[in-house]
Amino acid sequence: MVRNAPLFAGLDDEAASALLGSMSRTRLERGDVLFREGDQGDRLYVIGEGKIKLGRTSKDGRENLLAIQGPGELFGELSLFDPGPRTATASAIAETQLLGLGHEDLNDYLAGRPAVATAMLAALARRLRRTNDILADLVFTDVPGRVAKALLDLSTRFGRRSEDGVLVAHDLTQEELAQLVGASRETVNKALADFATRGWLKLEARAVTLIDVERLQRRAR
Ligand code: CMP
Repeated sequence: MVRNAPLFAGLDDEAASALLGSMSRTRLERGDVLFREGDQGDRLYVIGEGKIKLGRTSKDGRENLLAIQGPGELFGELSLFDPGPRTATASAIAETQLLGLGHEDLNDYLAGRPAVATAMLAALARRLRRTNDILADLVFTDVPGRVAKALLDLSTRFGRRSEDGVLVAHDLTQEELAQLVGASRETVNKALADFATRGWLKLEARAVTLIDVERLQRRAR
């Protein structure tokens, strides 16, 4: 999974193991905070195993989740490419293993590797596309549509075929799912209960089984 991260683009096995050897290793339990919004950033991370939530807190204490990331995904690069404080708080929502690379090591590493720099630009561009989609959905799409979209997005990364459909072990509480969708827990729960009643999905503890993906896709449009 780690080899799929943009940081490893185009590397042969030898170069990849040299890079892996120079990276720090961090292990987190669910609930552990790696860094907080506003901290000084000096390192980016690739997820080896587990899941990280990236979130922001408003002045009155409400939380919004920007993204849930899983194996092979990279985060913490913004404060390196554009030196400044961390733009979000990163915490683990499952047992997680991370590989870290310091700012200076990254700069040295990128200097001779245009393919890696291009892959990282592509990852940033994908993130901006996704953020624009989410922004448009916040304005144009109702909460049930956003819930359907969030579940489908999680399923592309964390979904596994099961007997009944696609099991998405997202590890999110209902509160966290609501923070990801940008709506109240009550409204999100109502949408989930409605989808369950229609037989489109089955709710489980920190997981969901998507039974009728096509209907959910139509609802997400
Ligand atoms: P950094 O600002 O160093 O620390 C927080 C990280 O969260 C940031 O780098 C990005 O890697 C990640 N991040 C910030 N905003 C988003 C977003 N909208 N979508 C996905 N990841 C993000």
